[in-house]
Parts: sequence; structure tokens; C-alpha cells
Amino acid sequence: MGKRLVAYFSASRGRVTEKLAKELASASGADIFEIKPKEPYTEADINWVNPLSRCNREKFGNKDVPVEGKVENMSEYDFIMLGFPIWYGCAPNVVNTFLKDYDLAGKKIAVFATSGGSGIGKTADKLRPYVSDTTEIVEAVRMSGSESPEELKKWADECENK
Ligand SMILES: Cc1cc2nc3c(=O)[nH]c(=O)nc-3n(C[C@H](O)[C@H](O)[C@H](O)COP(=O)(O)O)c2cc1C
Repeated sequence: MGKRLVAYFSASRGRVTEKLAKELASASGADIFEIKPKEPYTEADINWVNPLSRCNREKFGNKDVPVEGKVENMSEYDFIMLGFPIWYGCAPNVVNTFLKDYDLAGKKIAVFATSGGSGIGKTADKLRPYVSDTTEIVEAVRMSGSESPEELKKWADECENK
């Protein structure tokens, strides 16, 4: 087993993805990195009901969302578990920006997402433009957040071996 990284973004007050990401990292023996936008999201920023809110402007303007900090030792990780809440049936723009910031050639990525109900759909396919041609997206699932540590470890092991 090589070095593993869980990289996640989480935005809502419930921190659903963060909770899951921490459990996954601890169950699977991975390091963890929080993908945080340089400019943190307020409650108003993620109110998608308001057409002028920041999340809508970013989404529909296809905007980059700069990330705070860096994974300095990214070259050490061969396997990355990438977690985020599904926004508009996709990964949030800040996750795309995160992927673009690194050379991920030859690495394996497994995606875990949370959502209010949407399935994983084409979420993983939509990440392809932001990674290298030789980055393998080996798996993408929507998780409920109630997975046991045993289930999370099994998922990580299976994905890494794909
Ligand atoms: C801007 C925005 C867009 C969202 N779009 C979707 C969606 O398309 N489908 C869905 O099921 N949930 C959607 N949600 C709900 C989140 O995916 C869900 O609440 C998630 O578990 C929140 O995770 P977090 O606490 O880690 O931020 C959206 C939430 C926000 C803020």
C-alpha cells in the first residue's frame, strides 16, 4: 500500500462531507487535506435559491475558485480519495480548481460525494477535463455518511487495487 490522501471540500453548516472524509481517512490510514476556498463561503454565498448568490455566479460563470494552501508533497501520493458535496449535479468549482493546481499524471482517484438526494450521475466524467489523460478515476460513489469504518476501509482498499 502506497501513501494515501483524502482531499475534501465541505461547505454546509452540517459539514456532512467533512465528517465522512475524516472517518474515511482514519479508517483507511490516509493523510487528509481540506480543500478550502481562499475566500470562505458564508451562508449567503451558498444559498442557491438566490440567483445572484456567489455559488450561482461561480457555477454559471464557470469561474475558477482559488484554493487556500497546497498539498506540498502531492508527488508522494499515488492514490487520492476526493470528497465533496454534489452541487448542481457536479463537483463544486473549487474542486475543479484544486485538480487543475497539480500534476496528477499516473495517479488513481476515487470520488466520494454527498448530496441532498442526487445520485452520483456523471459527476466523475465531468472531472476529466481537470486531470491528466493518464489520471485514472477508478470509482465514484455517493455516500450517505452512515458507512461504518469497516465499509470505508474496504471501499478504499478495493479502489486502490483497481
Ligand atoms: C450550491 C449547492 C448546490 C447543491 N446542489 C445539489 C444537487 O444538485 N443535488 C443534491 O442532491 N444536492 C445538492 N446540494 C446539497 C448538498 O449536496 C448536500 O447538502 C451535501 O451533503 C452538503 O455537504 P457539506 O455539508 O459537506 O457541504 C447542493 C448544495 C449547495 C450548497
